[in-house]
Amino acid sequence: MWKDKGTGFVLLLLQLLSFVLLSFVDSGSAGVTSKFVRSEWPSTDIPLDNEAFVVPKGYNAPQQVHITQGDYDGKAVLISWVTVEAPGSNIVQYGTSENKYEFTASGTVTNYTFYNYTSGYIHHCLVDGLKYDTKYFYKVGDGDSARAFSFQTPPEVDPNAPYKFGIIGDLGQTYNSLSTIEHYMRSGGQTVLFVGDLSYADRYQYHDVGVRWDAWGRLIEQSAAYHPWIWAAGNHEIDYMPYMGEVIPFKSYLQRYPTPYAASKSTNPLWYAVRRASAHIIVLSSYSPFVKYTPQWMWLRDEFERVDRKKTPWLIVIMHVPIYNSNEGHFMEGESMRAVFESWFVHYKVDVVFAGHVHAYERSYRISNIHYNVSNGDRYPVADNSAPVYITVGDGGNQEGLAGRFRDPQPDYSAFREASYGHSTLEIKNRARAVYHWNRNDDGKRVPTDSFTLHNQYWGRTKRRRKLEKNHLRTVIEQVPLADGFRKRL
Ligand SMILES: [Fe+2]
Repeated sequence: MWKDKGTGFVLLLLQLLSFVLLSFVDSGSAGVTSKFVRSEWPSTDIPLDNEAFVVPKGYNAPQQVHITQGDYDGKAVLISWVTVEAPGSNIVQYGTSENKYEFTASGTVTNYTFYNYTSGYIHHCLVDGLKYDTKYFYKVGDGDSARAFSFQTPPEVDPNAPYKFGIIGDLGQTYNSLSTIEHYMRSGGQTVLFVGDLSYADRYQYHDVGVRWDAWGRLIEQSAAYHPWIWAAGNHEIDYMPYMGEVIPFKSYLQRYPTPYAASKSTNPLWYAVRRASAHIIVLSSYSPFVKYTPQWMWLRDEFERVDRKKTPWLIVIMHVPIYNSNEGHFMEGESMRAVFESWFVHYKVDVVFAGHVHAYERSYRISNIHYNVSNGDRYPVADNSAPVYITVGDGGNQEGLAGRFRDPQPDYSAFREASYGHSTLEIKNRARAVYHWNRNDDGKRVPTDSFTLHNQYWGRTKRRRKLEKNHLRTVIEQVPLADGFRKRL
């Protein structure tokens, strides 16, 4: 028996405390694994005669219309479309009022073969010299078959420009894919950051590969003709099919989905950067050489130096293969790129890295593993305030279905994970703050499931912001004579 009540109370408290501490140790993780697993529809592709793939009426009517940013800063748009019966016109008519097209731009037309498939006539047209933050109307095609669309240019590159991005990955062409597109279109997103694996046409053989690339172009037109999709390539774009004699990687993808790579001094359309509103977006290729001294490595080294956080506070990287992911599916496939690029992500304080590939959703804490090397054994990721948040959004809804098996226990670096279909939005409010949502497709509704406020790595932390602002002001004051009293207040 305890000698007195006081000692007994202290012992009881100690017992309770150890119980609480042990229960934390047992859980092994601070993150959440959602039990919600759902497949709304079977993971099969929509039949080709479905209205989702409808061919526009009229002789040689343009189809598969889609746009992407055409320059570094958002004053140009690359417009692409396909005509089937004949090459037709290369001209885009455009202007700032509906049905009144004051300007024209002339593009190129090409086609390609893939085994015994011959593509339609693929048109690409750069429309540049646009005004910022302006709605443009445009028309492609000839005569009665011409089709009209519109888009909004982004605000001028400015540190406080608000902007809303959507993030979609691994989309494919199933009913789940369609659900993701429809939900995204209701999200108010202004531009899509697409993290690779577009059509899944490589799940088909022979002639059908090209047919399914065409079908996918018609499926996404409802969104992609009206605002830019910024493309990153995935493994399903490689289309390496030696049994058909097709061995040129990314052949169909590169013919159909151009990128403004030269504007960011890249020499390859698979990796490049664009600046849009207050964001600097870096697109990487998981399936192109990236080790030291390769063209992608050298380009990224230089591009990080070109980032100016005073102009574009938000630094976003998109790629296909996630660097941090705790799903059994594709586990560790991003490790080789992590070893090469992670130290730069931390050094340059990237805000967020979006990836796809794994058909589930996952978000990490800010962590890094840059102290590891093959001889020190220091192998665990640690909390790191300078590191990006890593988000995997490979849950667009393709025919391969969900990746439902997460590793157990959930690693400490994993904050939230769920095997469902959906898309994300990143709504930049100003230079310091952005609101992030992951939206699950559920019963035909868009359900915000994981959300948090992203504080900018350069401007977001109050103390750091004050210091930066003070230094900035001091630079200004050194150039402009001011009363001593004002100087002292700084
Ligand atoms: Fe993939």
